[in-house]
Amino acid sequence: MFSRTLLKGTYGIRNASRFVSTKTKHIVYEEYGDPPKVCNLKEALIDDIVKENEALVKFVAAPINPADINQIQGVYPVKPPLPGVGGNEGCGIIERVGKSVTYLKPGDLVIPSQSGLGTWRTSGIVEASKLYSIDKSVPVHFAATLNVNPPTAYRMLKDFGHLKPGDTVIQNAGNSAVGQYVIQIARIRGLKTVNVVRNRPTIDELKNELKSLGANEVFTEEEFAKESRSLKNVRLALNAVGGRSSLMLAKTLDDDGVMVTYGGMSKQPVQSPTGAFIFKDISLRGFWMSHWYTKKENAKERDAMFKDLCEWINAKEFAPPKVVERSLEQYEEALKMAMESSDAKQLFVM
Ligand SMILES: NC(=O)c1ccc[n+]([C@@H]2O[C@H](COP(=O)([O-])OP(=O)(O)OC[C@H]3O[C@@H](n4cnc5c(N)ncnc54)[C@H](OP(=O)(O)O)[C@@H]3O)[C@@H](O)[C@H]2O)c1
Repeated sequence: MFSRTLLKGTYGIRNASRFVSTKTKHIVYEEYGDPPKVCNLKEALIDDIVKENEALVKFVAAPINPADINQIQGVYPVKPPLPGVGGNEGCGIIERVGKSVTYLKPGDLVIPSQSGLGTWRTSGIVEASKLYSIDKSVPVHFAATLNVNPPTAYRMLKDFGHLKPGDTVIQNAGNSAVGQYVIQIARIRGLKTVNVVRNRPTIDELKNELKSLGANEVFTEEEFAKESRSLKNVRLALNAVGGRSSLMLAKTLDDDGVMVTYGGMSKQPVQSPTGAFIFKDISLRGFWMSHWYTKKENAKERDAMFKDLCEWINAKEFAPPKVVERSLEQYEEALKMAMESSDAKQLFVM
């Protein structure tokens, strides 16, 4: 059995020259279906021999994201071969590397460099090219949730709409993990955000919380339906919901504005206003972080992006991610909660 590596928010490594345990625990699914039902916690033996292009990683923490749920349900474009280990995001410590791996060394803090790694496990041998090393001073909760949501927010604000300070960005699911990074990165860049959320009994609390992150406006969907006509200079709309919500966002766009769809939480097709295409020449685009990572030409830009994100984390520009820590043994409860509520990320701590 592995010792815990998460010690007061820092990363511990074992003596790399020592023989490494051959047992790993992981959350596996052998068929697609309802995640709490098709997933199982299993033990497995891992090969001790790290091949020349591989690395042995001791995983430290890994969240459950909507994409992980969709992947297990079999409705996500990236489908690891079955049986699959769940989890696309997380962080770990390198324990050993193969001979030809020069860009990683024991003790490095790593995150996946692409989807489909299977991060819900205590350790594993993976191709070193599927790992990306980050600043070791980044706290565990940030590191474990660093390669999906913050980069998605970062890229959408950088790559669409030619935004300059003072411009307005509108988004639905403003309280989602991505949405909260959109608010915070926009604040850092001097952009304004208008955020639409679903109504709830604790709406005042939620509004205050998003405003404390830097949100300029937070509307419920009902309030937004009344206020949307008065919005000016909206350059970019970020849509994670689809259906009527996307129609309402797109209607607020200024001339040549862009709506980027990156999620479909309502499972309804994207709707858009006919007049805004004709009279304002708006554009509809899509964005998928996993696809961006696969493009070799983005390598330099990836380094610059993680440098910015890690600097902002260390400068305390971002509020700590809200997480509920879970052991791998609590996978059923964690998966159920991840499917029911977006209040906090369920985070496996190994
Ligand atoms: N394209 C990409 O590269 C990329 C990257 C990251 C994430 N995503 C996608 O972005 C979305 C958000 O991800 P996340 O990790 O930030 O999610 P999250 O933190 O779990 O938040 C989910 C959000 O979706 C809202 N929501 C859930 N069901 C809804 C429905 N039926 N109608 C309207 N809103 C609904 C929730 O609102 P309530 O609080 O009101 O429930 C909440 O704001 C997901 O679709 C995810 O797959 C895409």
